[in-house]
Amino acid sequence: MSIVITGASGHLGRLVVEQLVAAGAPAGQIVATGRDTDKLTDLSSNGIAVRRADFADPHTLSDAFTGADTLLLVSTTDVGQRFDNHRNAIDAAREAGVSLIVYTSTLNAATARMRLADEHRRTEEYLRASGLPFVILRNGWYLENYTDQLATIRQQHMLPGSARDGLVSAASRRDYAAAAVAALTGGDHAGATYELGGPAFTLTELAATFSEVLGTEVSYLDLPVRKYTELLISVGLPAELAAVLADADDGLARGELYTDSADLQTLIGRPATTRWEAVGDAVARSDA
Ligand SMILES: NC(=O)c1ccc[n+]([C@@H]2O[C@H](COP(=O)([O-])OP(=O)(O)OC[C@H]3O[C@@H](n4cnc5c(N)ncnc54)[C@H](OP(=O)(O)O)[C@@H]3O)[C@@H](O)[C@H]2O)c1
Repeated sequence: MSIVITGASGHLGRLVVEQLVAAGAPAGQIVATGRDTDKLTDLSSNGIAVRRADFADPHTLSDAFTGADTLLLVSTTDVGQRFDNHRNAIDAAREAGVSLIVYTSTLNAATARMRLADEHRRTEEYLRASGLPFVILRNGWYLENYTDQLATIRQQHMLPGSARDGLVSAASRRDYAAAAVAALTGGDHAGATYELGGPAFTLTELAATFSEVLGTEVSYLDLPVRKYTELLISVGLPAELAAVLADADDGLARGELYTDSADLQTLIGRPATTRWEAVGDAVARSDA
């Protein structure tokens, strides 16, 4: 039995590989793949097979997926290219005879109107029509999307966004990785679509958590989508990415990143990370 992980050079894929090992999966049964295998060298020295897989280059995929029993398809990053990437990976998985494909989608993918959801919805439809046994993990927003802004939040006492008073059911990458490990290794999940998210909060409540943990006032600054896009561009984000992120906040305001599902907690067998834990950890790491 071999478990192939794509995107293992990224944050989520790497956590999945580490958690598989921690859960007792033999290193010899894990295949870590990425576009740049140099980023995976430390994994190969632990006995994990490392293979190159670039979804934009289908020739790499037949070798990468050979012998795969279960495949974790981590969604890729280039908005606009993602559906083609994912379709190539699903086709290659079918040709390789993969018996289960686990795909990391986005929360409420069937109904969300934010731009980021479109390629996930199309990928889900393609996967369902592929005939391959599948599990769809509709991952909610990462808590790290906020805690990675700690330095700026500390400096400016402000968390900006376009989320109005929308609720976001965020959880940590560690939580989503644990859910992926459960789907890859435990029980019969074939055919399931899980809506994964942690306890919901507004960005005003999140700013209050930063205030509490930092011991200094932090407020949430709500901006119109256009203004927030401009702000993201002014701090160095490419215009297209800034527009996509501001659009996601608009979706958050419409409830598209909210779920009351207990799927995450059920899959991982513990409560998801809270915003207090995430902010507390980020502050402790930055102060260390
Ligand atoms: N839920 C959320 O809040 C949220 C936030 C951000 C992203 N996401 C989605 O979740 C995914 C995983 O998150 P993450 O934090 O692990 O992102 P990440 O650290 O940016 O990792 C993305 C991974 O995808 C790989 N990749 C990109 N294009 C590829 C291609 N054409 N073929 C094969 N692999 C490719 C990257 O490889 P390289 O190392 O070669 O670049 C990397 O390993 C992201 O890719 C994105 O789709 C979700």
